[in-house]
Amino acid sequence: MQSFLNVKDLGPLDQALAEAMEIKEERFRHVGLGRNKTLLMIFFNNSLRTRLSTQKAAMNLGMNVIVLDVNQGAWKLETERGVVMDGDMSEHLLEAIPVMGSYCDIIGVRSFAGLTDRDYDYAETVYNQFVRYSGRPVFAMETATVHPLQAFADLITIREHWSEERRPKVVLTWAPHPKALPQAVPNSFAEWMRAADVDFVVTHPEGYELDPQFVGDARVEYDQMRAFEGADFVYAKNWSCPGVTRPGDYGRVLGDYHDYLPWTVSDRQMAVTHDARFMHCLPVRRNMIVTDSVIESPRSLVIPEAANREISATVVLKRILETL
Ligand code: CP
Repeated sequence: MQSFLNVKDLGPLDQALAEAMEIKEERFRHVGLGRNKTLLMIFFNNSLRTRLSTQKAAMNLGMNVIVLDVNQGAWKLETERGVVMDGDMSEHLLEAIPVMGSYCDIIGVRSFAGLTDRDYDYAETVYNQFVRYSGRPVFAMETATVHPLQAFADLITIREHWSEERRPKVVLTWAPHPKALPQAVPNSFAEWMRAADVDFVVTHPEGYELDPQFVGDARVEYDQMRAFEGADFVYAKNWSCPGVTRPGDYGRVLGDYHDYLPWTVSDRQMAVTHDARFMHCLPVRRNMIVTDSVIESPRSLVIPEAANREISATVVLKRILETL
């Protein structure tokens, strides 16, 4: 695997899930695989879970790890080609990437969407430069449009908490937030749920339609209460306007978020579900995305979901190491 961005990069999902369960039972089963191999984790944006879980995954596999926070201690990096660099950017990504590649065997990249230029973000411009110029396998630690390590961990969590014969109903719900957030988490969640054996429904206010390459022909329901009816899993997330039905509003919060506070996931919506489990990738703003009572309830899976980030990252790094 030279690049991990989308669900198809992992091959058959059932095989990947079986591998995840094996690793969960014995995390150090493959500890010899990463001996004398180095992972470089590059963060253009903040992180708690991705940073810790991916580093732990690398340690499970016996790897060495280097972490670089680009905006804290490194030279400021220009990412666009053709720019006259007379501002505060000291180095271009086109030199920095091959240099970084020379110090490691695998590179993980976190680089969020700028949310101003849809074409630039959706072309995965920064991530693809790492793929092209580093000479190393690269994997996404949340890029402009996707967060596959999160979606894989989400799917592992759903599998672990579902034992009935029928397919679970999984609802992805938009929830309010005061700031404009990327679409990476809902994009990947939609993509991975469509690839999994679940009954998948997306609910959001009009204007927040996700990109068809991720949401495909999934059912979209604009009435949140109707979407929640009979749900087995509720996955909450905010995202800014994806610019699909409103191209001029790409990356914006539509209207005044106070008007959307009824979308906050509360006991009111959870009451019409099939005693659903609550999920969120974290970090989460309480009483904005979800009420205290829902996130603290015994039906909340946010902590096991975050813990499974170590497992998804271990599987992905193992798969990459096996190709070196
Ligand atoms: N869910 C997630 O990716 O968390 P961090 O932003 O803290 O890494």
